[in-house]
Amino acid sequence: MRFSVATAVLVLITLPAIPGSSVERRVPAPEELRKGMESFRKVCGTCHPLEIPLDARVKPGGWETILAAMSSRGAGGGAAGLEGIGAYLDSRSLFEVKCAACHDRDRCLSRRKSRDEWLLTVKQMSLRAEGGIGSVEAATIAAYLSVVCPDEDSS
Ligand code: HEC
Ligand code: HEC
Repeated sequence: MRFSVATAVLVLITLPAIPGSSVERRVPAPEELRKGMESFRKVCGTCHPLEIPLDARVKPGGWETILAAMSSRGAGGGAAGLEGIGAYLDSRSLFEVKCAACHDRDRCLSRRKSRDEWLLTVKQMSLRAEGGIGSVEAATIAAYLSVVCPDEDSS
């Protein structure tokens, strides 16, 4: 029992560090990302400018450690105060890695689309992206873009 728990912990710690590994990723709901984005803007700019996390270029999978460190400094006043922030920042990092090599990460790529429309774009772009884009990654980026670059009607 003890061995398997230790192994599981080891796997959790090592996997995100392997580039291109198929880390199990859960597609976040747009609602979760929207909440996370709002909490992020409220919570993460109180001790330092929001640009500190926004410009940190943290890799996907790397936010958990940072959020734990910020939480221990009092950010969010406990784990509940940080809800959704990890999902938001992680999907943003994925977008950054897969799309921002060619596109300005802070702009809406001058398009506003629904989640389905974004998914189509991401799939078209996946041919160009470094290392391709898996289907779960594509759905995650589409959810992220549907929140930061929403269709006028759905916002
Ligand atoms: C209670 C104060 C406080 C709050 C709130 C806070 N931070 Fe920080 N953060 C710090 C301090 C202090 C540092 C600089 C020292 C350090 O790097 O550990 C820092 C540094 C950072 C860094 C750069 C450090 C690195 O490892 O590159 C990142 C990224 C970051 N914070 C993200 C966040 C995010 C995301 C949030 C919102 C969840 C947040 N911070 C909220 C205190 C805070
Ligand atoms: C290797 C470079 C490269 C990467 C990586 C890349 N793109 Fe593009 N993208 C382009 C180029 C070049 C164009 C313009 C030509 C075209 O439309 O095919 C473009 C056009 C677009 C457009 C405008 C056309 C449209 O369909 O609305 C959007 C939006 C877009 N990209 C989003 C993305 C997203 C999202 C990602 C990440 C999943 C991404 N791109 C990754 C190079 C790239």
